[in-house]
Amino acid sequence: MDKQTIQFLIKYALEARKNAYTPYSHFKVGAALLTKSGRVYKGCNIENAAYGSTMCAERTAIYKAVSEGDCDIQAIAIVGGEEGSEPTELCPPCGSCRQVMAEFADEDFRVILAVDENNYRDFSMDEVLPLIFHNLDPEE
Ligand code: THU
Repeated sequence: MDKQTIQFLIKYALEARKNAYTPYSHFKVGAALLTKSGRVYKGCNIENAAYGSTMCAERTAIYKAVSEGDCDIQAIAIVGGEEGSEPTELCPPCGSCRQVMAEFADEDFRVILAVDENNYRDFSMDEVLPLIFHNLDPEE
């Protein structure tokens, strides 16, 4: 994945983070998902008074894409940090988001963890979630 595409996705993730609804944790996460069709889906975390009903930024973005029938995912950029300031460190996705990414990712999928456009690391799905559970293969 070229640097320009990575930086463009990080910019969208930072933009998405501004919409995070976080009255409980005050921790804001943004994600930008690129699909193979070339579309970008932004997501933010959306909290709830019933804490368990909270949705993460990454799954918001993935579910937006899949619900539009756009299931072939190429890369996701993720940024996160305390409310009131720009991110200061990388924000690795939670286990549930990793499992949902794995459902739709192929071997080329990239997970980009960023602080900003010039400070990021990118990983394969296998690095982010080794020993993936995919017992019920929908192709079989
Ligand atoms: N959060 C995400 O949006 N993505 C993750 O992968 C980890 C956690 C959100 C959920 C909650 O709103 C806040 O971060 C603190 O856990």
